[in-house]
Amino acid sequence: MATYTINLNGEDQSFTCDENMPLLWVLREVLQKTGTKYGCGIGQCGACTIHLDGNAVRSCMMPISAVGEAKITTIEGIGDPELHPVQQAWKELQVPQCGYCQSGQIMSAVHLLQQNPDPSDDEITEVMSGNICRCGTYDRIKKAVRLATK
Ligand code: FES
Repeated sequence: MATYTINLNGEDQSFTCDENMPLLWVLREVLQKTGTKYGCGIGQCGACTIHLDGNAVRSCMMPISAVGEAKITTIEGIGDPELHPVQQAWKELQVPQCGYCQSGQIMSAVHLLQQNPDPSDDEITEVMSGNICRCGTYDRIKKAVRLATK
């Protein structure tokens, strides 16, 4: 066990946990930020995507001991108090079906648009292909990313 302080959504949070605990479980179980989801636990599905110093990262693969002083942003931190334009587009086009993967999808989409404010359809497909949706909402996801660029 070790004590950590991390910067989460703009606020420092201190806690004690096992140094091998993945960041995903720190967020969900220690800090009760449950918007970030567990899908595969092996870096394959994207459900656990968060931003670490502005990069889209799979939190299931990152031990808390590797976070250091990086700034972490989760789905709870991107649209506060107003919905982020990506969230607004998701809402407008009613993207989710079951909704489970959508936090990760949105975090990937936000990162994409931060890097490239006007991506081509191929670029959207390429970047978003790392996030799996078992309901097959891919078409609406692409439309929502496009809408969020406007
Ligand atoms: Fe992290 Fe699937 S839960 S990539």
